[in-house]
Amino acid sequence: AQTPVKVTVTGAAGQIGYALLFRIASGQLLGADVPVKLSLLEIPQAVKAAAGTAMELDDCAFPLLSGIEVTDDANKAFDGASVALLVGARPRTAGMERGDLLQANGGIFGPQGKAINDNAADDIRVLVVGNPANTNALIAQQHAPDVPAERFTAMTRLDHNRALSQLAAKLQVPVTEIKKMTIWGNHSATQYPDLFHAEVGGKIAAEQVDEAWLRDTFIPTVAKRGAAIIEARGASSAASAANAAIDHVFDWVNGTEWTSAAIPSDGSYGVPEGIISSFPVASRDGKWEIIQGLEIDAFSRERIDASVRELEEERTAVRELGLI
Ligand code: NAI
Repeated sequence: AQTPVKVTVTGAAGQIGYALLFRIASGQLLGADVPVKLSLLEIPQAVKAAAGTAMELDDCAFPLLSGIEVTDDANKAFDGASVALLVGARPRTAGMERGDLLQANGGIFGPQGKAINDNAADDIRVLVVGNPANTNALIAQQHAPDVPAERFTAMTRLDHNRALSQLAAKLQVPVTEIKKMTIWGNHSATQYPDLFHAEVGGKIAAEQVDEAWLRDTFIPTVAKRGAAIIEARGASSAASAANAAIDHVFDWVNGTEWTSAAIPSDGSYGVPEGIISSFPVASRDGKWEIIQGLEIDAFSRERIDASVRELEEERTAVRELGLI
């Protein structure tokens, strides 16, 4: 039998954790034939709640789940891990400035990056979900000099899936008809969901919708969907975020022709090297590759640049704070 793959989930007692862990244990993260070991990392006050979730995981008797540990020790949690889902983060609270938010998250993602560096398996793959996801991923990466830089990624797959769903509803087609969707930039309100390369029924999506809808409805609806969910549910998106995390890792490991993921830039499309920005990506042999050769018109250029500028500002801010 195959050796179980260790998957570490931080923030395991949170709402995304609750929606995520059962799907990992059921085989949806890596594949239905891959046994997994789960490690749940929490802050001390939440270890008890995470242990409660571990009891429920036991009670599912998942055939693929070979063990669960619950800990508040990052070195232990990442020891031998091949997949790390960094979900736990410090949320922005009322009156908090950006610098405070970055500082608080630097205090989480710096040490976790180091713990990954020192303890994880050689094939470690990291997905950061906790916000500000792109910059938290950069902080963790910068504390893990021995891990190949491209193993640190951040999640824009939820934005990608939201874009698919909004366009499918507009054109009254199944989501499976839509190909080549792309989210560019930061996982924030500046992100740019691109319909100029997306195809529906083999034809460019942007040509099948009117420009006003694309500009004034589609883009803001996708970019502000997180806030709309909070407004409706009274809590932030959790099951859909967990679903997107599953999609991201599954495709990274098993391959895909085209999706969106925030990965370290190699300078493609004018995105400064090193910034963890969302791109159109394929995955081959367990590695993300930026899809090359797309023509970017002025409308798209302006929006990609604005989101990338925000990422550069965040990088400058964490540098100035001494977090990287
Ligand atoms: P939550 O507040 O329900 O859970 C977060 C958990 O993280 C808590 O149990 C907390 O104790 C834990 N935590 C905090 N610091 C930790 C640390 N240093 N080590 C380990 N655990 C720690 O939050 P929820 O709803 O599960 O969301 C988690 C994060 O995901 C938030 O930052 C949220 O903004 C982000 N998010 C990102 C999305 C994306 O598309 N990238 C989508 C939705 C949410």
